[in-house]
Amino acid sequence: MTVSAANAVDGVSRGDDHYVAAARILHWAIALLIFAQIGLGWYMNEVLPDHTPAQAAVESIHISLGLTTLLLVLARIGVRLASPPPPLPAGLPRWERLLSGAAHLLFYGLMLALPLTGWAMVSMGTRPIAFWGLPWPHLPGIAQIFGSPVPRAVRHEVSHIHVYILIWIILLNLALHVAGALKHQFDGHPVLWRITGARPPRPEVRRP
Ligand code: HEM
Repeated sequence: MTVSAANAVDGVSRGDDHYVAAARILHWAIALLIFAQIGLGWYMNEVLPDHTPAQAAVESIHISLGLTTLLLVLARIGVRLASPPPPLPAGLPRWERLLSGAAHLLFYGLMLALPLTGWAMVSMGTRPIAFWGLPWPHLPGIAQIFGSPVPRAVRHEVSHIHVYILIWIILLNLALHVAGALKHQFDGHPVLWRITGARPPRPEVRRP
């Protein structure tokens, strides 16, 4: 039985359930990796001079971390399907439930799209791809879809989507996500502990 099933009565949260441990660990590991990847991507593209050994070294770390993120996101989706999240706190307005569900769904799409567009970019070149020093395949279908060699304009477009469009959308979604988590934390529907694994707040006991 999942944590949510064990603690919910008729699908209504009793208020003391949280995400399973694997979901909590993967949530924070992936969040950390995404922050690190945004920082590394900026550093290698904007700070380090082009075509230098230092840039190549950082790029190889960025690629390996990106592929690691992709594997962890696939594991996260597997955990999500096996253990649905606990029911949201009772009394949360419908629009907030819908918005939170939409933001989570968008996150899953972005968490897949970011590493996949990165993998597509390196697969458009002829250089072999290394995953922490091990050989990693090129993304299948690239030559069939875009031709070989891939036109410069297509590479440029995919790079723009990866380094600009997706990053801005994930940062905006993150702002919404964190604002929602903090709002609920202080408006009587705390949710932060559900994803941190901390103890749930106990209802205040009023003494006569
Ligand atoms: C890039 C970073 C992040 C990503 C990609 C991310 C993604 C997600 C996703 C997809 C879920 C939904 C899990 C599910 O139901 O399957 C979730 C839940 C949650 N996240 Fe994040 N998150 C990030 C950062 C943060 C941060 C910084 C906070 C803290 C303020 C946070 C707080 C929460 C909370 C409280 C929940 C549980 C909401 C609930 O109880 O329904 N997240 N996150």
